[in-house]
Amino acid sequence: MMESIKNSTNNIKFMDFCAGIGAGRLGLEKNGLSCVGFSEIDKQAEITYRKFFGEEEMNYGDLMKIDTDKLPDFDMMIAGFPCQTFSVIGQRKGMGDDRGQIIFGLIKIMLAKKVKYFILENVKGLTNHDNGNSLKVIKNKLEEAGYLVSCDVLNSIDYGVPQMRERIYLIGVRKDIAPKNFIYFFPERQVRVNVKDFLIDTKELEFNEKKESYETFLKYLRNRYNHGRYDLGEFLKKDYLVIDTRQSDLRLYDNKVPTLRTGRHGVLYVRNGKFRKLSGYESLLLQGFPKELTKKVDGVIEEIHLLKQAGNAMTVNVIEAVARELFKVL
Ligand SMILES: C[S@@+](CC[C@H](N)C(=O)[O-])C[C@H]1O[C@@H](n2cnc3c(N)ncnc32)[C@H](O)[C@@H]1O
Repeated sequence: MMESIKNSTNNIKFMDFCAGIGAGRLGLEKNGLSCVGFSEIDKQAEITYRKFFGEEEMNYGDLMKIDTDKLPDFDMMIAGFPCQTFSVIGQRKGMGDDRGQIIFGLIKIMLAKKVKYFILENVKGLTNHDNGNSLKVIKNKLEEAGYLVSCDVLNSIDYGVPQMRERIYLIGVRKDIAPKNFIYFFPERQVRVNVKDFLIDTKELEFNEKKESYETFLKYLRNRYNHGRYDLGEFLKKDYLVIDTRQSDLRLYDNKVPTLRTGRHGVLYVRNGKFRKLSGYESLLLQGFPKELTKKVDGVIEEIHLLKQAGNAMTVNVIEAVARELFKVL
């Protein structure tokens, strides 16, 4: 089945908007589609992107300023547009905030390039932002632009990575090319995988008294919220126990990791009776980047950047599965 989808998609060209480090690109390439260019304003993300995909495709920069006449032709758009304005952790300014308007920049490009299909991704918080109004406006605008739109919230943990990551996916097909009675079905959930196959970094990332932040961690365990609740010795007995330290509480995860986020680098886990910090390499694996590719940046791009970029990225496997379902029907 996979081969036949690939044979029928290898003439389909796409452009990667809000490209980040290209998780969306990889998910589409795994379905046989080819990338003709990308748009990303973060220079550091572009460096990682180029390490993964090379120098061939052009970065068209800020999508709000793109002259669409200068873009190559393409059939499909993929974009994980910025989530700050919709996120439940953000300030919730939503459609009134300039960054929220990126969606309108994307629609402008869809119309100018007569894009046939799109996959858009955003945080789950978009579903209830402004009582669901922001999502309603976005869907209406996409429909007015001539697309049949399906949307759903999927969790990455159901698609081959052990990461809890709920995101909303909007799938669009141009009405005039959609098959009669077209309905898009989101991919079925897959069998869960084991976290220990992803927590495999061999670098010296042990987290112990030699690290400055270890003292803070101990203080944290003994603060008034946590005092007496947790036993360090018991933690260390449980290999692959994942620990997430938040402002005032501590969360434990069994055979999974919490949502990787930009700016939160405090995920620890136990391996061979020792605490370790989740690394950039492991974070990329947890977003579905394959080992061969991830090795190209491990130790080359600074940890702090890799952790941020993985936290921002889409999950490769989810995009791969979502696109596969789309092209199966088409
Ligand atoms: C949530 S991240 C998505 C990352 C990406 N989908 C991935 O898988 O790595 C949003 C990205 O959009 C980029 N971005 C924000 N505004 C942009 C704009 N006006 N033009 C192009 N990229 C933009 C950000 O720099 C960021 O990398």
